[in-house]
Amino acid sequence: MALAVWALGFLILPVIDANNTGIDSLTAICRALGIAAPAKQAPSTQTAVPASMTAWDATTLDAVALGDPVAGAALAQDSCVACHDPNGLTTDPATIPSTTGQSARALYKQLSDMKRGERPNDVMKPILDELSQKQLADLAAYYSRLPRRNHDIHAIASARGGAIVLATKGDVSRALPACEACHGANAGGPLEVPMLTGQYPDYIAAQLRAYASGARKNDIYGRMRRIAGKLTDQEIKDVAAYYDAPR
Ligand code: HEC
Ligand code: HEC
Repeated sequence: MALAVWALGFLILPVIDANNTGIDSLTAICRALGIAAPAKQAPSTQTAVPASMTAWDATTLDAVALGDPVAGAALAQDSCVACHDPNGLTTDPATIPSTTGQSARALYKQLSDMKRGERPNDVMKPILDELSQKQLADLAAYYSRLPRRNHDIHAIASARGGAIVLATKGDVSRALPACEACHGANAGGPLEVPMLTGQYPDYIAAQLRAYASGARKNDIYGRMRRIAGKLTDQEIKDVAAYYDAPR
């Protein structure tokens, strides 16, 4: 009996295992008996890269709070107005977002991430490279004080099928939290969570697809990548339309 167990542990199992691991049977038996060096695992050469270097410590929070909207207005007039209109409109709603009335922290995080390349944006990166973190805070202060294109989302809710459920209740069966758990209705959320109400639907849909594919990955803890990856394309369109505002 003892011999059978011994043979199983030191001869039979190693040989079966050898087939799976791609080493020859003799090496597998020798390793099991402890007379050959065990396989060495090469140390990983990969370094962990954070999704975003924006850290909500006291220094960052103070920097955003001290943003100067007057200085920001002058900068916006110089560098941003061609694409982001102060009335919240843009020349190309499919690709350029509305930035008016967005939360200052959300704006500051996106600008900082784009400046560092954590959120790729070829058109804005060269502009942001010329600006300091203080100037990003000034721009965030300026845009956050402009009026948002708000509307009563509940008035159109019934027309949006499952979108109202996704936005307000989520879907427990897919472990999808309600969008509004983080993105308050007609409001931003805690810290960097942006306001969705009044954003262009095409832009919302494009960002959800970008999170789902991993093309946009500056969301801390991968919160949006996990959520967007579970949505169907129809749900993306519906939920994006749900947040639309009248033009
Ligand atoms: C040539 C056009 C262009 C100019 C100029 C421009 N932007 Fe943008 N901006 C874009 C586009 C396009 C996007 C969306 C990129 C994407 O799809 O990820 C964007 C995205 C943003 C976002 C992210 C918004 C969000 O909700 O995630 C902010 C904030 C922003 N821009 C602010 C600015 C500021 C401030 C300036 C001036 C310093 C500026 N932009 C200049 C085209 C422009
Ligand atoms: C757990 C909190 C949480 C939930 C739930 C959540 N979001 Fe987000 N969402 C975030 C955060 C945080 C960001 C900002 C990520 C970043 O820094 O890029 C974000 C960003 C976004 C953006 C990009 C907006 C912009 O201006 O660039 C869209 C679009 C979005 N969320 C849509 C949704 C939708 C639709 C749902 C529901 C199906 C949802 N989110 C649920 C936390 C959440």
